[in-house]
Amino acid sequence: MATPDVLFQPLKLGDLELPNRILMSPLTRSRAAQPGDVPTAMNAEYYRQRASAGLIIAEATQVSPQGKGYAFTPGIHSQAQIEGWRQVTSAVHAAGGRIYLQLWHVGRISHPELQPDNALPVAPSAIKPEGAKTFISADSGMVDIPTPRALTTEEMPDIVAQYRKGAENAKQAGFDGVEVHCANGYLLDQFLRSGSNQRDDDYGGSLENRLRLPLEVVHAVVDVWGVERVGVRVSPTGSFNAMQDDNPEETFAAFAKKLDALGIAFIEVVEDSFQGNHANGRPESVIEAIQAVFSRTYIANGNYTADEARERITAGKTDLVTFGRPFIANPDLPERFRRNAPLNDWDDSTFYGGDEHGYTDYPFLSDT
Ligand code: PHB
Repeated sequence: MATPDVLFQPLKLGDLELPNRILMSPLTRSRAAQPGDVPTAMNAEYYRQRASAGLIIAEATQVSPQGKGYAFTPGIHSQAQIEGWRQVTSAVHAAGGRIYLQLWHVGRISHPELQPDNALPVAPSAIKPEGAKTFISADSGMVDIPTPRALTTEEMPDIVAQYRKGAENAKQAGFDGVEVHCANGYLLDQFLRSGSNQRDDDYGGSLENRLRLPLEVVHAVVDVWGVERVGVRVSPTGSFNAMQDDNPEETFAAFAKKLDALGIAFIEVVEDSFQGNHANGRPESVIEAIQAVFSRTYIANGNYTADEARERITAGKTDLVTFGRPFIANPDLPERFRRNAPLNDWDDSTFYGGDEHGYTDYPFLSDT
């Protein structure tokens, strides 16, 4: 008898039963309706097609107008957005799937053209993310990001409130849970890492202070959802968006330990550059330091193949794996992995923005 495929061993994530270990990672596709950054029927169809994932973690979604950093990304702060997302969650559930929302505030990775009243983007400290870019309209191309304004201490409760509201709205929209985006150089990651946080109040300076805002946010989100339906995404060694930390192992083990004490269901770790080529391998010592203190589910991300996922699950190095670009190009990725079938190639010219092309028109195995 053939050995059972570990990718299809069910697993309980929090209190949610997942039928397989092949998760869809949060992927910015920049296809929300304008004006208003509202999810559409086309977005619902895209996610419905991918409902065989063990879990879909829907794309990064701004919790407030201030939290927006790119043209055409969806929000979760208006009634129209809640209704748009409800179409998405209903479609996924009707197809037998499960879907979380990723709660996002971009912090300094934005542009006055995208901000209310053309304000400067906000950040822990007024440090320009050198070399980081965004796009502000369909024909802007990639543009430079200005030096942000440092948030005042008095503004912190409002930031927490933005996430709390996003969490409440996600519940109204019918999601199964939420992931707090603490990765890839966006607001909460900017607070966590020493390169972008040089504050001298309670929200910066010491490691304990750098963890404070992210933990307050996770706390608020747990208030809304309960620990079984909340996860956090981190990218300890990622340099995307001009990020750097003096001691990623110490920073992220300390954060993971606090998250473990809170009891949240999972931590998802970007183990490679989010668009990486896997050149430096995985940061094993950071991964081990996180796993040593975080007792609940570990989710790995970053340029995994089916075989590497099988290997690392079998070796106890991860519980689950999120797949990004393979899921863009293969709506039926689990079935292809199960059968060891060939994968469609992705077309990176259609990742961000546009229509159905490169979005809902990738073929299923059954089409061929
Ligand atoms: C992006 O839109 O480029 C983007 C968004 C969220 C991420 C990473 C990249 O976590």
